[in-house]
Amino acid sequence: MWVGKQKKTVQGADFLYHFQLVRHNSQGNQRLVCSLAAKTSRAGSGLDNLQLERCELTTDSEIVPTIGTARFAKMEPVDLDIQFAPRWTDASGFEEVLRGGPSPHIGNHSTVYVRIPANCSLMTDACVRLLSLLNQLDHCTRRVVLSFEDGEAGTMGYLNRIRFFDHLSPSIEVLPIRPEFTPFHGKNPGLVEIERIDRITRDSCLLDRLTTAVRKACAQRKDVAELEGAAWTIFAELIDNVFSHSQTPLDGFAALQVYPKGNCLKIAVSDSGLGILETLRPSLRAGNSRLSELPGVDLIVEVFRQGLSRHGANRGCGLPGCASKAIKFGASLDLRLPTERVWLVPSEAQYRANKAYCFQNLPLIWGTHICFTLQLDNTS
Ligand SMILES: Nc1ncnc2c1ncn2[C@@H]1O[C@H](COP(=O)(O)OP(=O)(O)OP(=O)(O)O)[C@@H](O)[C@H]1O
Ligand SMILES: [Mg+2]
Repeated sequence: MWVGKQKKTVQGADFLYHFQLVRHNSQGNQRLVCSLAAKTSRAGSGLDNLQLERCELTTDSEIVPTIGTARFAKMEPVDLDIQFAPRWTDASGFEEVLRGGPSPHIGNHSTVYVRIPANCSLMTDACVRLLSLLNQLDHCTRRVVLSFEDGEAGTMGYLNRIRFFDHLSPSIEVLPIRPEFTPFHGKNPGLVEIERIDRITRDSCLLDRLTTAVRKACAQRKDVAELEGAAWTIFAELIDNVFSHSQTPLDGFAALQVYPKGNCLKIAVSDSGLGILETLRPSLRAGNSRLSELPGVDLIVEVFRQGLSRHGANRGCGLPGCASKAIKFGASLDLRLPTERVWLVPSEAQYRANKAYCFQNLPLIWGTHICFTLQLDNTS
């Protein structure tokens, strides 16, 4: 709920209004969202007429790492409902849900409700994308409410075991009640916790934890050493890129999960930064590279195939290195950027533009979200 505290002072012929916007969460705690001053020359008009409950903080640009300028706009607050479907939901399913409505980042939504029904099982790639998006909306001062129809018994319990709620901004409301983390001592070795990529301090043990998790989850397989090696390269490169390029204003996330029934291992890394094309294209342009004019999907394929870097010709080995390890396991690659998504399937041991599925003008999500799905055959 938005509440405005208003103080009026007279300055010559002008009336100066000082606002403080605070937000109340369901526990009744207040958080200061912003302060601003506004001037009007006519008392009883303009700002005077605005009911603060009917105001919303808006910004000049949609991507707001920090809130710089703010202005009041007279808007009717509209709640946005994002309703998941009662089925297994991977990154594609997540995107489908999101495409079904207006962009939660844009527009005058005062509250974004995300509803997870009974029998909706979120897969790891969908989990990290959802986590990043919710934290982004919270960062933009939107009120976010995440509700679970079947409480701890269902997806909320699973998300708790993978530490989703430890990484979810504390001001996001969780219904029916935000769970306390309880360590999981079950028998599912494929269940692996989401790891935070702390954007300020590099955690030197993070990579070890992630690859140990792969070793444990795939311990029964003959190709466990190759899988561990592939996961090591992929996580190392993707996490390094988060630090080197993303400029993320929020922490990133890394996660993996083995799905024995689906014979696959998903490796996902997500940040809330600028996105690959935003960092790469300007430097290609500055170097007069004709590649800078390629459409997004072609440029992305080249990044993973031949290697391109914003740092010039001697760099750009990271993403092709990930691709070549992943392709050995027939991996598909799902890459989500702020408004585009590319899904690549390998063809003749390469990712190629003619085997790319491309989605444009998607609802905004900041950052780069990458998921490799490695195929695990039954014979190993
Ligand atoms: N998480 C990210 N956020 C924003 N841009 C990214 C991200 N990851 C990669 N990029 C962009 O994609 C380019 C290619 O990344 P890649 O890892 O292949 O090479 P590099 O990091 O530049 O060099 P190297 O990995 O060889 O040290 C980067 O130069 C950068 O412009
Ligand atoms: Mg790199």
